[in-house]
Amino acid sequence: MPENKLWGGRFSQETAALMRKFNDSLPFDYKMWQADIHGSMAYARALANADLISSEEQDKLLAGLQQVWQEWTAGTFVTQPGDEDIHTAVERRLTEIVGAVGGKLHTGRSRNDQVATDLRLYLLGEIDQLNQELTLLQQSSVTVARREIDQLMPGYTHLQPAQPVRFSHWLLAYFWMWQRDWERLRDLRRRVSVLPLGSGALAGNPFPIDREALAEALGFATVSPNSIDAVSDRDFALEFLAWAALLGTHLSRIAEDLILWSSHEFGFVTLADAYSTGSSLMPQKKNPDSLELLRGKSGRLTGNLTRLLVVMKGLPTAYDKDLQEDKEPLFDSAETLHIGLAVLAGVLETMTLHPKRLRAALTDELLATDLADYLVRRGIPFRQSHHLVGQVVRLAEESHRSLHEIPLAELQRISPRFQADVAQVWDPDAAVERKMTAGGTARTAVQRQLTAAETLLAQRKASPWK
Ligand code: ARG
Repeated sequence: MPENKLWGGRFSQETAALMRKFNDSLPFDYKMWQADIHGSMAYARALANADLISSEEQDKLLAGLQQVWQEWTAGTFVTQPGDEDIHTAVERRLTEIVGAVGGKLHTGRSRNDQVATDLRLYLLGEIDQLNQELTLLQQSSVTVARREIDQLMPGYTHLQPAQPVRFSHWLLAYFWMWQRDWERLRDLRRRVSVLPLGSGALAGNPFPIDREALAEALGFATVSPNSIDAVSDRDFALEFLAWAALLGTHLSRIAEDLILWSSHEFGFVTLADAYSTGSSLMPQKKNPDSLELLRGKSGRLTGNLTRLLVVMKGLPTAYDKDLQEDKEPLFDSAETLHIGLAVLAGVLETMTLHPKRLRAALTDELLATDLADYLVRRGIPFRQSHHLVGQVVRLAEESHRSLHEIPLAELQRISPRFQADVAQVWDPDAAVERKMTAGGTARTAVQRQLTAAETLLAQRKASPWK
């Protein structure tokens, strides 16, 4: 009979080496060792509280688990060929340390409710860390937006110069995307914080385990209401992966903006050397690899979501081994964001703006809408003024002049409503300052955004999920 297995009893032959390699998840799920030991400690107490083990047996189990914890911490935990996964490895070692009583720990428990519990516990830790990292990035964006509030630049649509905006206004657009990301993380966290332990393999636990007390001991907000759902629900993992993919999309977009603007052709910003790399061939090159990687990593974040969605689709209810495929995408997305969020904060805080290049890019055509608005203020319906200014633009293009070079007399041939004060239109600062409505790019409106953003961040400092 095969030795050293949790389930060897009904087997008469050894598992093929190839099958072991294929089946084992320890190479990646060892990361959940803390969650697994915490879960087992709480479960040992629950068994004692239900009089399934004596208090001496409970203490023995807890002391043994403590030792296993120390071995993992010290890096002295030695895995064995039969250790399929972290659950098997911890229980095998525990039993080596405490003897036969180790065999009582799994009473009423299945690896199915155990792994779901471990994964949720692990993810709660990752989520709390990501909250901090996302908050730091938001903080960086606010700091830079405050510092650079007087810099104007062209705003683009279709990547064509559109209207002048404050650089800070552009940057705060990302603050608000990240704010929504943060809200989504807080929201999905509630659905991660549900305890599956006590669901058994699928049908529930036949012993009087106090699941509410278990939830409280492990820091879960609630207990799962249905054991079949509890062991095979991975919605929480999918929600997290979807969250990560969307955040990754935001990171990719800001990366793309900054890659363009740091290009020789735009020259609006320069990345710090600390976040750039060189070319092995071309000595002049300084490449925005930090940003290109952020843009590229959005591919794996979206891929990780797709991976698990496809695993889940068509899966019969309750546990199937397919579910073992849930961990690697989850770990990978969390890790990708731990580093990505910090890198972007570093890039933002250390890049330099080039005010002269930004100013030079504020060409007349960015004010064509303001010219149309000028006519609106003189009583011409906007549709008509838009058309008239279109004619001015064509005239300028055909005569190779910029808009402000068209003399008043020529403008008046297009519309007699043009007067000498039309010269005041050619002022990008004034154009920006007119956008004073809430959410606009005028200084006061951007200040209001900054104040609102700072208030949110201050609340969060006082209480991380407020
Ligand atoms: N390593 C497994 C996983 O990650 C643990 C659960 C095993 N359950 C089972 N019925 N074989 O999903």
